[in-house]
Amino acid sequence: MSLRGDYNLAASDFSVEQDWSAYSEEEHALFRRLFERQSRLVPRYACPEWIEAIAGLDAGGGIPKFDRVSAQLRAKTGWEIVAVPGLIPDEAFFTHLANRRFPVTVWLRKPEEFDYIIEPDVFHDFFGHVPLLFDWVYADHLHEYGKGGLKAMRLDTVKMLARLYWYTIEFGLIKTPAGVRAYGAGLISSGGELAYCVEDTAPKRLDFDLERALRTDYLIDRYQSTYFVIDSFAQLMRDTAPDFTAIYERVRALPALAP
Ligand code: PHE
Ligand code: FE
Repeated sequence: MSLRGDYNLAASDFSVEQDWSAYSEEEHALFRRLFERQSRLVPRYACPEWIEAIAGLDAGGGIPKFDRVSAQLRAKTGWEIVAVPGLIPDEAFFTHLANRRFPVTVWLRKPEEFDYIIEPDVFHDFFGHVPLLFDWVYADHLHEYGKGGLKAMRLDTVKMLARLYWYTIEFGLIKTPAGVRAYGAGLISSGGELAYCVEDTAPKRLDFDLERALRTDYLIDRYQSTYFVIDSFAQLMRDTAPDFTAIYERVRALPALAP
């Protein structure tokens, strides 16, 4: 697969300058349209932690300045945003997370990709992922995930760990007093799947099960047929805290499960 971003100017950790002044007025307007469409959905379908964080972010006026948000994040949970040209190699990605840096793609999708885009862009990365970094438990969990990623590289188990990321950080659901809500970034930034994942009767919604998530293949080009539901970010932290070495061995010996 060839990636869309320009990697020529990237540093060895794949970071780039955001160069905010280079965004066109059309791009800011498109970001605002994406923001407004999602903002009509999130009060009903996103988790309370995400909703609380976006209110403090002043991100509806156009593509945000990463430096400003990083300053807010550093003050709250010690995270920051690092600008990247797009998807980056596993080792660079895990190293950033293990140092409380979240990689955010600098470019924005084209207008004709309003509803669907294959590669993550600045709207998905920023709107979907960044607000939850203001939640301490979530933020600490993602930090641990990054360290776990470097370990998985040594154990040759990145594929299993990536399934966990998919079913939690990207497409996870969480129980709330008002019902199930989305916390996964792929859901929160999606115009169609955000309502679908909460309301539609077709998909399975299973209580989170670490080994099952590590074993389950996933679909990248359509709505998920299975979601895993956590009780709280504290549960996610607790369930992923054990040393995975023995768990990986067990899961590796079993066939993968269909999505
Ligand atoms: N506990 C995991 C390990 O030992 C690391 C991890 C933490 C993975 C949090 C995912 C999320 O490998
Ligand atoms: Fe993502």
